[in-house]
Amino acid sequence: MSDTLPLLLRAARGESVERPPVWMMRQAGRYMKVYRDLRDRHPSFRERSENPDLSYEISMQPFKAFQPDGVILFSDILTPLPGMGIEFDIVESKGPQIGDPIRNLSQVEALRPLQPEESMPFVGEVLGRLRSSVGNQAAVLGFVGAPWTLAAYVVEGKSSKNYAVIKKMAFQEPELLHKLLDHFATSIATYLRYQIDSGAQVVQMFDSWAGQLSPADYDTFAAPYQKKVVDLVKQTHPDTPFILYISGSAGVLERMGRTGVDIISLDWTVDMAEGLARLPDHIGVQGNVDPGLLFGTPEAIRDRIDDCVRKARGRRHILNLGHGILPGTPEENGRAFFEAGKTVMDRIGEG
Ligand code: CP3
Repeated sequence: MSDTLPLLLRAARGESVERPPVWMMRQAGRYMKVYRDLRDRHPSFRERSENPDLSYEISMQPFKAFQPDGVILFSDILTPLPGMGIEFDIVESKGPQIGDPIRNLSQVEALRPLQPEESMPFVGEVLGRLRSSVGNQAAVLGFVGAPWTLAAYVVEGKSSKNYAVIKKMAFQEPELLHKLLDHFATSIATYLRYQIDSGAQVVQMFDSWAGQLSPADYDTFAAPYQKKVVDLVKQTHPDTPFILYISGSAGVLERMGRTGVDIISLDWTVDMAEGLARLPDHIGVQGNVDPGLLFGTPEAIRDRIDDCVRKARGRRHILNLGHGILPGTPEENGRAFFEAGKTVMDRIGEG
């Protein structure tokens, strides 16, 4: 067993596998008591994610507790920002806060290209340690935020409900926004290359807020920059499976399929079978159990996993939630999700 490559890596590459691999977005986090205890001792999010010992320890917490098939770096999509000259913090109950939101040309022109080995050596260190700790028992996942979603944070300055500030920029000063998006695309591609060189075996790009765009604006402000990141990474690392996630992606699924990614992470508002029917055969899927189901019973979780896996049968599939696990989820239900995911073939059979 131990000399075969991790199940998640084989599945993501499109090999035929014994069962769909399972992991969870945000699997390290507040629903786990060990995480909350560590957070009490280290209240700063920046410290937890930028001190390599802490980031490593947190990344390993769900692996130790539940043995998921994927171990994701504990970090944030905003972590590369200071390396480009944008300060941020993540404040309890308020969420991300940008020191000096980006609103004009001189600010965009002052941004530095990201040099990850200089500004975030901790990420390389943690990925290398994760890789040697988990061996072939799990795949190590790296991740980034996509240009549109990063721009939404740095322009708005915080989480937003209706994205009025960035939309004003998009519709009044599109060249300014394009300059910012292009800067992020180049830097994010450099960052992903660094993550892969450091040990990430599969990578995921979160364009969490691209679902806030109309399809025409998605084609203008999100897709070209997603594609630029994918193209740059594929030039140097063609064999690393690339996953793309958007929250609320039902209206742009076909478009996501044209960005060059290998796997599309579906949220739970799309039926798995219907989502697959809208994507070409060579594209795989991840997802898509409603994270809210983890407030239900273990039986309900199991039944929904069975349904999801049945519908994805015959296609490249990574079992996951449709978005991150929610704070307040009973930890036992997190465990039930992983256990039911690993035993799904015993219930639904090979046929
Ligand atoms: O999946 C994992 O376990 C890896 C860790 C991870 C975090 N953030 C840790 C984190 C990942 C992959 C992210 C990505 C991220 N960060 C996204 C894209 C994924 C998505 O959910 O769509 C986004 C939009 C962010 C920005 C961000 N960071 C938000 C909106 C928040 C929540 C604010 C809050 O207080 O609820 C964060 C903070 C954050 N990042 C937490 C975690 C575990 C929670 C705060 C904490 O633990 O103290």
